[in-house]
Amino acid sequence: MTETHSDALVFFGATGDLAYKKIFPALQAMVKRGALAVPVIGVAKAGWNLDQLKDRAKDSLEKHGGLDAAAWERLSSLLRYVDGDYADPATFAAVRKELGGAQHPAHYLAIPPSLFEKVVDQLMHSGSAKGARMIVEKPFGHDLASAQELNQILLRAFPERSIFRIDHYLAKDPVQSMVSFRFANSFLEPLWNRDHIDSVQITMAESFGVQGRGAFYDQTGAMRDVIQNHLFQLMCNLAMESPARRDSESIRDEKVKVLKAISPIGPGNLVRGQFRGYQDEPGVAKGSRTETFAALRLEIASWRWAGVPFYIRAGKNLPETCTEVMTRFKRPPMTKFSEGEMPQNYIRFRISPDSTIAMGVSVAVAGDDARRHPTELVASSEPYPEDMEPYERVLTDALIGDSSIFARQDYVEEAWRIVDPVLRDGTPVHPYEVHSWGPPEAMKLAPPGGWVDPLLGACIPAGA
Ligand code: BG6
Repeated sequence: MTETHSDALVFFGATGDLAYKKIFPALQAMVKRGALAVPVIGVAKAGWNLDQLKDRAKDSLEKHGGLDAAAWERLSSLLRYVDGDYADPATFAAVRKELGGAQHPAHYLAIPPSLFEKVVDQLMHSGSAKGARMIVEKPFGHDLASAQELNQILLRAFPERSIFRIDHYLAKDPVQSMVSFRFANSFLEPLWNRDHIDSVQITMAESFGVQGRGAFYDQTGAMRDVIQNHLFQLMCNLAMESPARRDSESIRDEKVKVLKAISPIGPGNLVRGQFRGYQDEPGVAKGSRTETFAALRLEIASWRWAGVPFYIRAGKNLPETCTEVMTRFKRPPMTKFSEGEMPQNYIRFRISPDSTIAMGVSVAVAGDDARRHPTELVASSEPYPEDMEPYERVLTDALIGDSSIFARQDYVEEAWRIVDPVLRDGTPVHPYEVHSWGPPEAMKLAPPGGWVDPLLGACIPAGA
């Protein structure tokens, strides 16, 4: 089915932080690439006028990626601004007026979820929801019940195919490359299952703290901030079956099937941590029990994966910044070539700071076939930055109506179902030192062969 291109972009939260850091740079890049030529209407309650919004946009471009004079001129001519309260129908009458003859606007909610209902209702009542698309930012809810409630609010005004739930991780090239690599190489398929794979570990390490987002982060924590969304998406890319077709629904169907095969995580399969000093961060409550680190183990109970443990770990203020998926194969049987313990073969997908796909193999030392050294075959390795920044890709795809890289209702709800019980359970939160690999308790949950330090490619010794 050919989708209609949106004929206007309305973005709520135009004076906010996300607009400043990500959205204006993405809009300029889209103009430059020829992907944006429709009016862009910023909406916020700041007491501003259009010139002030343009000044802010210009400043944002200068600070984040650089101003391109020609592209900025074009973007500036597309910008409109509506100032007003989201509870006031006059704000939405003004939006409708700015939309002019646009029949298929895309509304982008770059605002807190607590405001969604107000805005959606007003869009509906002002006649701006009909024929429109809805783009929503994460976090999409804070548990299963709130995600279901948000979905009901959106579905009152927009059909599911017109709702685009952002997970910017899906717009990253290396995240998409995982899927192409799996399905474009026939040698992999016979090995990609419980008979050959020993374990999978997914690490998202960040060497920085909450970066001034204490108030937001303290309501969120690592499980909700990155595991339930970004890292589950990596897991699905690694584990899903080949989609029957290339359309967005076929791809998203396969991802949902992976989540459906996962039981809710029990407290024994989760370790939570908090870096020392977190509670002194502005916006963080004294005595906070929010986790800045989480490590968990789960299993996908499918014919392909049953019995293969998946380990997922994410944290702030760890020793390095790196996201990587490591798939370890079972060891070869003992033969004359395998005296002592053989290293495990592996395939690793590095998502950031660079984009790499590599295979770990063992090769005989010249002249001594009983001794081997581990070697990596690098299939691809690209430095960042990528061709298209995630936000440019997200907005470009939403405007053309391609849902492939957006989370569907059933996916989001399944992902919450898996983490919901442990979010409510109040498992202990263990302190850890800044720039360590999380609390020592996380070692108890380590994969066979240990957690990998992505930058060293080696296992992290206990107590590091
Ligand atoms: C965001 C989280 O969704 O993803 C942040 O809120 C996290 O806490 C960020 O740092 C990581 O994404 P990226 O693209 O910056 O690696």
